[in-house]
Amino acid sequence: MSEELLRYEKLAGELAALIGDGVLTHGDRLPSVRRLAQERRLSVSTVVQALRQLEERGLVEARPQSGYFVCQTLAPRSQPQARPTPDAPMPVDISQRLVHVLQAGARPGVAPLSAALPANELLPIAALHRLYAGVARRHPRLLEAGSHVHMDQPALVRQLVRRSLAWGGPLAAEEFVIVNACTEALSLCLRAVTRPGDTVAVESPAYYLMLQLLEMLGLKALEIPCDPQTGMSVEALELATRNGGVAACLLVANGSNPLGSVMSDEKKRRLVALTATRGIPVIEDDIYGDLFLGNERPWPLKAFDTSGNVMLCASFSKCLSPSLRVGFVAAGRYRAAIALQKTITSGGTNPLTQIVLAEYLESGAVDRHLRNLRRHYQSQVKAMQAAVARYFPPATRIAQPQAGYVLWVELPEGVDTTAMHAAALRERLSYVPGELFSASGMYRNCLRLNCGNPHTPEIDDAIRRLGLIFGGGEAGGG
Ligand SMILES: Cc1ncc(COP(=O)(O)O)c(C=O)c1O
Repeated sequence: MSEELLRYEKLAGELAALIGDGVLTHGDRLPSVRRLAQERRLSVSTVVQALRQLEERGLVEARPQSGYFVCQTLAPRSQPQARPTPDAPMPVDISQRLVHVLQAGARPGVAPLSAALPANELLPIAALHRLYAGVARRHPRLLEAGSHVHMDQPALVRQLVRRSLAWGGPLAAEEFVIVNACTEALSLCLRAVTRPGDTVAVESPAYYLMLQLLEMLGLKALEIPCDPQTGMSVEALELATRNGGVAACLLVANGSNPLGSVMSDEKKRRLVALTATRGIPVIEDDIYGDLFLGNERPWPLKAFDTSGNVMLCASFSKCLSPSLRVGFVAAGRYRAAIALQKTITSGGTNPLTQIVLAEYLESGAVDRHLRNLRRHYQSQVKAMQAAVARYFPPATRIAQPQAGYVLWVELPEGVDTTAMHAAALRERLSYVPGELFSASGMYRNCLRLNCGNPHTPEIDDAIRRLGLIFGGGEAGGG
């Protein structure tokens, strides 16, 4: 990234840390733009950019004629900071280590803190089972006459079009391709718009499965810095794509995994305009869009797309059941290419499950369920934040997720979460080491925790014991 970019992100990060650590508190006036520029030997525009970023994160507010002041809504702990990323695209090599981490984390008796999976009791499993039985009875011919031409069940597409009203839609039925969950959606989109050796711009830190897909498809990752609250830096993307050579941009604008950031509408609009102008297809993963932790459903990037350049991918794995394995792409002008990829990679998507999902979405139970689920995730994330604040070393930084149910934690410099992983496993504790969220091995002092389970005394104790491994102090429960 350019020097100028690093400077403004560095300044924003330093000021945010002063606020997070309580050195600057509510109502304090920040030094003036001119003074910051003079003292830090920065240009006025760099300082203004840094202050705007803090404003977007809700840390400071501008008061006319008076300057910038620290806001009241302070995080209880410092948040992780955006980090500068390598300029060059990188080949990805995380799969072997990732598989080991996820398999070890799923062993019986290991605290369920690694894979981003919800607790079964939070999901409408019984209702779905009843629907499977009913649909199988009422549609006895569903498994006959499989078709590679008419793969999508119109009833499900109709429900998705209806739901898209809440995504800044409605989207056209013709845009949709029904697929085997979000993993397949992302894979098909990448296959449709890239060739081996191409470079794809990704978030830093990025969801490990996205990196894995790049690895499997022989693609390189260009890591773009992300603000822990407002997501991918559009300025950094602008600089990184200035000279061309980026085949696609792959990101989670709502509820990034692992940061939980949500981009503002204004940032989304800028990103969509920039990528459209530069002819860079956007692959958007909105799997956490319905699991917002704030007041209203954030719109996806797709809502701001006027040229069909955004492929919107999602599934029902995080809110209904990870085992349904049904998702979709609203594919814009790449629809034909994606439908072709779908035909040659997996044919269709199980029609019985498509109808079950369509009937569940039609039932009206879904919105009640989602409201309830959001409440649970909200309180589980809060409880996890409190436990980490209590048990981990004092200089630990904790993310403030805006959507989803994973928690990103930055330990003090020098703590190596990859090296400590074996010790945690011996204690039947799990987490995903931070370096697996980066193609270039960044974030070795970070980790991600799954908050998909109710915060039971057992989970709390697991966090306490994890804290001890990392040098945290609080030994007792109570
Ligand atoms: C951002 C993101 N995308 C996709 C997936 C995978 O989704 P699916 O199970 O629908 O393939 C996950 C699961 O953790 C995720 O966090």
